[in-house]
Amino acid sequence: MTRIELPDEAATTRLGAALAGGVAPGRVLFLRGELGAGKTTLVRGLLRALGYAGRVKSPTYGLLELYTLSSLNLYHFDFYRVKDRSEWVSSGFRDYFNPESVCVVEWPERAGGSLAPADLEVSLEFAGEGRRATLTPCSEAGRAWLDAALERWQPA
Ligand SMILES: Nc1ncnc2c1ncn2[C@@H]1O[C@H](COP(=O)(O)OP(=O)(O)O)[C@@H](O)[C@H]1O
Ligand SMILES: [Mg+2]
Repeated sequence: MTRIELPDEAATTRLGAALAGGVAPGRVLFLRGELGAGKTTLVRGLLRALGYAGRVKSPTYGLLELYTLSSLNLYHFDFYRVKDRSEWVSSGFRDYFNPESVCVVEWPERAGGSLAPADLEVSLEFAGEGRRATLTPCSEAGRAWLDAALERWQPA
């Protein structure tokens, strides 16, 4: 478990960019934290660092946003609006979690137990004017991912 202080929005974006380094097909990233904690901001930083030049918006109303990058497909989920597990199961989103895709999930706790396990979890919390991130690897791949991110991380 690693704690990182994020004094401003740019820091959250940089953390996302640092996480882009270890991204590989099949990886699953869970993003936890209340509304406004910076989850989507982090995804934006990650996608920009992967070379995505378009708009990165919150998928809150659509549950899913697909980004086709040169080397991989990245699925950005936001389950804030999922009411119960049955909605998740019937939606068939589980098929997106496969060895070829990268899945980034906001509000994973709302998807019920049927979600693939994360390799890495990032929790964001409010800290004064800024945020604090807690990064927890949940698999061997996740540990390597975190190590790669920490090597790239630049506090300012
Ligand atoms: N480290 C930070 N310090 C201060 N504000 C931040 C930080 N990271 C993100 N923000 C701001 O928080 C707001 C909400 O961010 P967002 O990424 O949409 O949150 P979430 O997806 O968790 O609901 C945005 O206005 C963003 O600029
Ligand atoms: Mg969001």
